[in-house]
Parts: sequence; C-alpha cells; structure tokens
Amino acid sequence: MKTLVLTAHPDLSKSRINRKWFETFAETDGITLLDLTRLGGPTLNFNVAEQQDFLLAHDRIVFQFPLYWYSAPPVLKAWMDQVLTYGFAYGPSGTKLAGKELLLATSTGGPEDSYHAGGYNNFSMDELLKPFQQTALLTGMTYLRPFVFHGAAVASDEDIIASKATVLAHVLDPELNPAIKKARLDKMLEEDAKLAARVST
Ligand SMILES: Cc1cc2nc3c(=O)[nH]c(=O)nc-3n(C[C@H](O)[C@H](O)[C@H](O)COP(=O)(O)O)c2cc1C
Repeated sequence: MKTLVLTAHPDLSKSRINRKWFETFAETDGITLLDLTRLGGPTLNFNVAEQQDFLLAHDRIVFQFPLYWYSAPPVLKAWMDQVLTYGFAYGPSGTKLAGKELLLATSTGGPEDSYHAGGYNNFSMDELLKPFQQTALLTGMTYLRPFVFHGAAVASDEDIIASKATVLAHVLDPELNPAIKKARLDKMLEEDAKLAARVST
C-alpha cells in the first residue's frame, strides 16, 4: 500500500501537534509527505498536474490538518478545489481516484466529550466531517475511519509524544479498510463454523 500524506497546517513552525505528526511521517519509509502550505505558497496555487500525478501513484490518501471552524484550514480547500477536477476526480470519465482510500488525521482544540449530542460542540466528528466523506464517495474512494486527537488546548507534551505512535499506526493500518477487515472476520467465522461442525460429528 502506497501512502500519500498531505499536511495542511498554515504554520507548522507554530504547531505543537501537527508538526510532531509531520516529523513522524517524514521519518517513515513508504510514506510520501507533502506540506501543502509550502507547496501552495502565499497565493495557495498548486501545480495541478503534479498533484494529480502524486494521487495516481498512491493507494491511500491522508489529509492531515488541525480542525479550524469545524473544517480544514483554507490551504486544503484550495488544494481540493484546484486538484480534484472534472474529468479527473468526478464527471463521466473522472474516475482516476476510484478504488483509492481517503483518510483524515485531525486534531481539535475541544475535548472529546464536547463532540457529542449534548456536548458544547453538539455534533460528532463523524457528522462534522461529512463533506470529506461525501467527497470520497463521489470520487469512488473508500472513506476510512478518521484519526482524531482531541483536547489540543490542554494536551501535555507526553500526550502529544504518545500520539505520534498512535497516528502512525492508524495511518498504516490496512484493516481500516472495511472490506479488508470484514473479509478477515468472515474468514474467522467460517473457520469457527468448520471447527464446530468437525467437533459435532
Ligand atoms: C482559526 C482556528 C479555528 C479553530 N477552530 C476550532 C474548532 O472549530 N474546533 C476545535 O475543537 N478547535 C478549533 N481550533 C483549535 C485547533 O484545532 C487546535 O489549536 C489545533 O488542533 C492544534 O494543532 P497544532 O498544535 O498542530 O496547531 C481552532 C484554532 C484556530 C487557530
């Protein structure tokens, strides 16, 4: 599985969390890492053909970003608007992303319990991230369970260091793909059933 991580933080030099994740991904063999803020420059303009080639060459696409106003920072939206074009990502012959995977890795300032019905942010992360899920569906990608680090505002240095291993394990986990996970569970059930049949005869 070839993994492409697109980091969308407006200023990694001021980041506590996403910078650590960026450094972790940079040290990992098999991950291609792009800093969208550096690539897009002050006008957030991307080389569309180059970015589309990166997408074509990878199987799992990861959007890494801090949650800003319940969405991603503008650099990721600019990248999506420019790179996910008609005829490439959608439209009658726009099937170039079909079969790939889309994974989000994000950090929030608010704590986990605020992202529930009745919490002060009211909505779950699954609900708030729906535009990304629908982008995956429209483009024929498999949307994977996101990685969310909550409570950036109060996270200790130890919490952040620990998150490096958990975000990396999540990003590299093949079983995030529901089809792969389900196939393994089905196989286990089948083997259990065979064993039970043998025992009862
Ligand atoms: C402009 C802006 C908007 C933000 N919006 C949210 C938000 O909607 N929900 C939330 O939980 N945190 C929000 N935060 C907090 C960031 O998510 C938090 O600072 C970030 O995840 C920390 O990551 P970093 O250390 O990599 O910068 C916001 C921060 C900024 C600067």
